[in-house]
Amino acid sequence: MLNEHETRSLIEFTNKFFGLDLSENLKPIAISELNKFKKIHKIMDLGYFLSKYRYDLQDDKILDLLEIFLIPHTNFFRNNRQFEALKDEVIPECLANMDDKNNIDLRIWSAGCSTGEEAYSILVSLMEYFGDHYWKITCGIMATDISRKSLEIASKGFYETKRIDKLIRQRILKYTEQKNGAKLRFKEKVRKEANFQQLNLNSKTFPFKNKFHIIFCRNVLIYLNKDSRLAAENKIFQSLAKGGFIFLGDAEVLSSKNQDFEQLGNGIYRKRI
Ligand SMILES: C[S@@+](CC[C@H](N)C(=O)[O-])C[C@H]1O[C@@H](n2cnc3c(N)ncnc32)[C@H](O)[C@@H]1O
Repeated sequence: MLNEHETRSLIEFTNKFFGLDLSENLKPIAISELNKFKKIHKIMDLGYFLSKYRYDLQDDKILDLLEIFLIPHTNFFRNNRQFEALKDEVIPECLANMDDKNNIDLRIWSAGCSTGEEAYSILVSLMEYFGDHYWKITCGIMATDISRKSLEIASKGFYETKRIDKLIRQRILKYTEQKNGAKLRFKEKVRKEANFQQLNLNSKTFPFKNKFHIIFCRNVLIYLNKDSRLAAENKIFQSLAKGGFIFLGDAEVLSSKNQDFEQLGNGIYRKRI
């Protein structure tokens, strides 16, 4: 069982280092997973255990512990209206803003990509938009998440067929190959277009050299505490090119009152030029 001191240490640790906002009333499923975790790693006192790892956040045990609280829920073309906006307005505007129209270099980031469905949906949208021309331009997706488990699934690109809506299955058919009927897999040349990397949005800095034209950060910031969320929004803002776009979840709004953003639609923002 978890005592009060352990629960408090866990909440402080995940809050401080991962920006998560866990409630004092941990869900029974989380408590059961935590007890399993303690047993596997022969931990007597979770508070003491965590204090040893405060400078070693990339340790496998800490990342395994974190998985208990991450919510990987996602879908292909989740909130499809945003993918329509991507093709109808956002990509054309990004292209129109490029200085060298003959040398397209479109940079897109899926931040909090979970098991990859969002990144592949963006790629399919790009390939639908550009057609064969896609392979002549510089494009592709940087896709990040804190969860190594999710990223592993994303990079493999296998998905259970029965969990994908029939219409969406038809839409992505051309970009996938069937594996024994039960699973489909994105073709290698499509998978190669996504660069899946681990990144904690609560880390002090982001490792990108170039700014992005489009950032998807949907249904991720809601899991962060107020300060971490504001800090993450600022870093995301810094990572976006002028005139670039941010997609949040449909019902999400930016919490920072940054006047350099204008809201275009539900969950869609543009950084002023
Ligand atoms: C509900 S999923 C959203 C997936 C996708 N963006 C979508 O909207 O379908 C939330 C994702 O945020 C990730 N996440 C939570 N906290 C994070 C953090 N501090 N840094 C990076 N990713 C985080 C989780 O691992 C999870 O995969």
